[in-house]
Amino acid sequence: MTQTLEQKINKKLEQTFEKLSLNPQYATVKTSDRPDLSDFQCNGALALAKSERKNPREIASQIAAELEQDSSFSKISVDGPGFINLSVSDKLLSDVMEDMSQDERLGCEKTNTPKTVVLDFGAPNVAKDMHVGHLRSAVIGESIQRLERFIGNKVISDTHLGDWGTPMGMIISEIMLAHPEWPFFDDDKKDGFPDSIPYAVEDLTEIYKAANARCKEDEAARQQARIITAKFQDGHPGYRALWQHLRRISVDAVKKNFDALDVHFDLWLGESDAHETCYKIMDLAQEKGASEKDDGAVIIRLGESNKPKPPVILQKTDGGFTYHITDIATIKMRVDDLHADEIIYFTDKRQALHFEQVFEAAEKLGLVKDVKLQHIGFGTVNGPDGKPFKTRDGGVMKLEALIDLSKEKVKESVPTAEDVAKDFGSVEEAQKYIDNLVDEIAIAAIKFQDLKNNTASGYIFEVDDFAKFDGKTGPYIQYAIARINSIMRKAATANIKEGSITITTKEERDLALKLAQLNTIIWRTHNDKEPSIISDYAYTLAQTFSTFYNAASIMNAESPEIVSSRLRLARLTRDVLKLLLYLLGIKAPEVMLKK
Ligand code: ARG
Repeated sequence: MTQTLEQKINKKLEQTFEKLSLNPQYATVKTSDRPDLSDFQCNGALALAKSERKNPREIASQIAAELEQDSSFSKISVDGPGFINLSVSDKLLSDVMEDMSQDERLGCEKTNTPKTVVLDFGAPNVAKDMHVGHLRSAVIGESIQRLERFIGNKVISDTHLGDWGTPMGMIISEIMLAHPEWPFFDDDKKDGFPDSIPYAVEDLTEIYKAANARCKEDEAARQQARIITAKFQDGHPGYRALWQHLRRISVDAVKKNFDALDVHFDLWLGESDAHETCYKIMDLAQEKGASEKDDGAVIIRLGESNKPKPPVILQKTDGGFTYHITDIATIKMRVDDLHADEIIYFTDKRQALHFEQVFEAAEKLGLVKDVKLQHIGFGTVNGPDGKPFKTRDGGVMKLEALIDLSKEKVKESVPTAEDVAKDFGSVEEAQKYIDNLVDEIAIAAIKFQDLKNNTASGYIFEVDDFAKFDGKTGPYIQYAIARINSIMRKAATANIKEGSITITTKEERDLALKLAQLNTIIWRTHNDKEPSIISDYAYTLAQTFSTFYNAASIMNAESPEIVSSRLRLARLTRDVLKLLLYLLGIKAPEVMLKK
């Protein structure tokens, strides 16, 4: 494993601290707060002042004097109350770039303690269209999935479909009203379910809407839906068969949507899969004396921890299991069957209390010894008016409509097939390439727009700018990569090879220092579960490359050695940007076409 620049500097500091009999715990640097003064800073002397009973400047000067002996540093100064400002030599920086460019992980560390991490994201509800609200969960979850795998954890992703609640009972009830003659609705009929029932997912949405309206107005209809829900959960063969059928149609539609977004799951389990385990949870809660009857319902009281919370409801008065117990049962399954060390949930932050309650109940029931549970709550996607993002006519923005909108925007920047037919041999070939390209850019635009925003805060969907080729967008990063690809192709055609990296100019230096941050960025994103750290970095890296590229020619540099060195630096930048986009769940087209 190669060492990153920061690790190399920390190692040198550690040796110096030890030599001076100072606690090496404080021998660490971070990127300088004053890039005009230095590349890195070490604040260790300030932390040591107390235990050493010395003035921090004095300690800092001692350390600085030692470091002066090391030619790896080009500039060392003690500033302010005792900051040590350090700049690294071009030689050290060149060596680090060389190491990174030779390493297939681009110098990124793997975890020493691999964990089994279960990720719960996407989580749409069966029979309802996926809308822009499900977008964030899918997009953020997919990014964390890729990141956790990259650092070496074992990831198991599960979309945890909402496939078990009253909405399904309402739909079955509505279908019964339309088809009272269907024999499998009878309580004692076990067969007679036809091979195919003609419903598409759009029909289900309509049926659900009608059922919802009916139940709102009519208590008898509500009661009927509740009875049917309880019966299909209990295993009534006809209802179960219809439920299974409806679930299948929905899952197919959901899969199509997730495929379009390049979001993938290991498991397609749902709330229904936890049903049997819910009974075990009921027993366990009783054994442990954790549950009690409350007005006909079964609950677990919480709030012994510092923050009082409303009780968890395991079973409702009518005997039905709740969203709470389903999640508690699912935790048990993930620990017992999947051996999860960590379970992370990605939902709208309005579900924060739900997860606090579920986590505390799971703790109380002894289900999560040595298991870390985490809820990542995100804000809503809003329109320009600051209200949840809607279509132009005020309807809910469906995911498919959003992808279409993005494609329309992207097409504004991409040439027509006729314009570029000569590069592809024919209009048909050009069209094929463009269609795929538009897809990849459109998805990049949607995802990057989401992932460039801090997860916890909501964001306003920038309808006019999100798909542009310049500014802080996905297409801008894709374009930066494609531009380097084109440089590589030109070099290959001219038979020019990359060669060892030697940093000579300020722009090369800035680019190298930026590239050297990669490992820190990856690990910070992992610790904070915050993909916007990666998108920010990708954007500034692409900009830094642009400055480098505009400042001096690669192919017409002063000497063949510098040409080869810059070529390698460019290739490394391209590989880092590609990795970053991959970790955001975004594809990097080899060639971008721009009007
Ligand atoms: N289906 C739920 C919803 O759309 C989200 C489920 C999140 N995951 C979980 N294990 N509760 O609101």
